[in-house]
Amino acid sequence: MGKNISPQYVIAPSILSADFARLGEEVANVVAAGADYIHFDVMDNHYVPNLTFGPAVCQAIKPYVGSALIDVHLMVSPVDELIHEFAKAGADIIVFHPDATTHIHRSISIIKSYGLKAGLAFNPATPLSYLDYTLDMLDVVLVMSVNPGFGGQKFIDATYAKITQVKNLIKNCGRDVILQVDGGIGVNNIRSIAEVGANAFVAGSAIFKETDYAAVISAMRKQLKD
Ligand code: DX5
Ligand code: ZN
Repeated sequence: MGKNISPQYVIAPSILSADFARLGEEVANVVAAGADYIHFDVMDNHYVPNLTFGPAVCQAIKPYVGSALIDVHLMVSPVDELIHEFAKAGADIIVFHPDATTHIHRSISIIKSYGLKAGLAFNPATPLSYLDYTLDMLDVVLVMSVNPGFGGQKFIDATYAKITQVKNLIKNCGRDVILQVDGGIGVNNIRSIAEVGANAFVAGSAIFKETDYAAVISAMRKQLKD
């Protein structure tokens, strides 16, 4: 589709914190404000204790995303059927939790079969050993810096060491893999997260709780400049 998956730093606003009653307008506004990805948090009240939106809502926002990518974060179990549904609904990237599926290689292969970017997500206590036989297939590794399920939580500091570990694994594999971090990110800590190796940043409440989305995103980008 010709969209660039990897600008130097990716800002991915999570619409979990947007005004759902005006979702299309919120998406268009945050894209105009400089979002690279629209981060789409899918929760099923089974894998995580919350319930959000599904493929029909993804399809409904597609006309509003412009040049941004739709970055679907599946916090669901089982995984495979929803991969098919989100691929048909216009997702560009699909990330799932390896502990939520029985056959991880199969789930990744389904995403790739649609020509989409595939990622694995790691909760704060999920071991990185899931990358042992998968990293060479992945486009994205998502490190969760909060326990999944809710916006507005505090960044867990132990995540810094985990990001460093992932950065080294990616470096050793020699491929261009996005290292995305999700949860508790704002203008105040984005630089320190980039300094340990992250290059894609999900931010929900930090952006949508403000009225001027462009001001927050440009303050984040300013923090990321040398
Ligand atoms: C949490 C979600 C996050 C969430 C981040 O389960 O995966 O994407 O929206 O929200 P903030 O940025 O408010 O921590
Ligand atoms: Zn997320």
